[in-house]
Amino acid sequence: MHETRTTPAELTAAAVASFGGCPDPRLRELMQALVRHLHAFAADVELSEEEWRRLIGVLTATGRITDERRQEFILWSDTLGLSMLVDALAHPLPDGTTESTVLGPFYVPGSAERAYGESMSEEPAGTPAWVHGRVLSLDGTPIAGAELDVWQNGDDRLYAVQRHTAPEHHLRGRYRTRADGSYAFIGVRPLPYPIPDDGPVGQMLGATGRHPWRPAHIHLIVRAPGFTSVTTHVFDAESEYLDSDTVFAVKRSLVRSFRARAADDPERPPGIEGEWVSLELDVVLAPGTDGAEIVDPGRTH
Ligand code: BEZ
Ligand code: FE
Repeated sequence: MHETRTTPAELTAAAVASFGGCPDPRLRELMQALVRHLHAFAADVELSEEEWRRLIGVLTATGRITDERRQEFILWSDTLGLSMLVDALAHPLPDGTTESTVLGPFYVPGSAERAYGESMSEEPAGTPAWVHGRVLSLDGTPIAGAELDVWQNGDDRLYAVQRHTAPEHHLRGRYRTRADGSYAFIGVRPLPYPIPDDGPVGQMLGATGRHPWRPAHIHLIVRAPGFTSVTTHVFDAESEYLDSDTVFAVKRSLVRSFRARAADDPERPPGIEGEWVSLELDVVLAPGTDGAEIVDPGRTH
């Protein structure tokens, strides 16, 4: 009796076909494409059984280390560039608007509302930084009453949520633009820092000769009624790692220079003592209706 042997292509076709009756057309499309690409990957690299076992081990370790405070799966997505790709696909903002970038794991909703020019350092945390600018629409009209939800690290390279002894609202705050669209806050000059690298993602970075560092930045979410909110960063132009951010979040348009200022600089704002720096950043929003609160995706704290 003659038998024709089953080919790898037939195995792939069978797995794809198994989703043919999926009643949700989008889920069907996702699952069939996933199987096609996964099989193509395995065939392309001739994945060995040992490599497959190790991959299962990595996924298992990723699940084990993930809890409500640590989201190692999103860290994989970040370090493989997927988070930035999904962000780019989800937010095709028009030219001239402020570009978006990753939210990251250290966002905490419900920061204190702070006044124009107020400091968000609740304890000393580095060189004071006067950050100021305007929020504008695409045609240059100032947007009054826009909210800037801001967070950053201090000179210990940590976000307050990473350090149990930090005051709850340290280095974060929500500011509103004035009638002329202007805003200002006092933060500190941010420092580069490593992403959490004591888990499977850190092992991958080490094994592949990559580093875990992010260039110095301040995070902002800017929201205003009638406009599309933007989740973004401003990067320090003098920072290390601008060209090798481990999560691929640097966009050229988001890099700005901090200006060094002496203690006796006549423009020194109230609330600052000693040497300081200043940074000017205008934010341009696209029209839209998505002024909604960001939903906390349950990431690393
Ligand atoms: C952050 O900028 O806070 C961040 C983003 C992605 C991964 C880790 C940290
Ligand atoms: Fe960050």
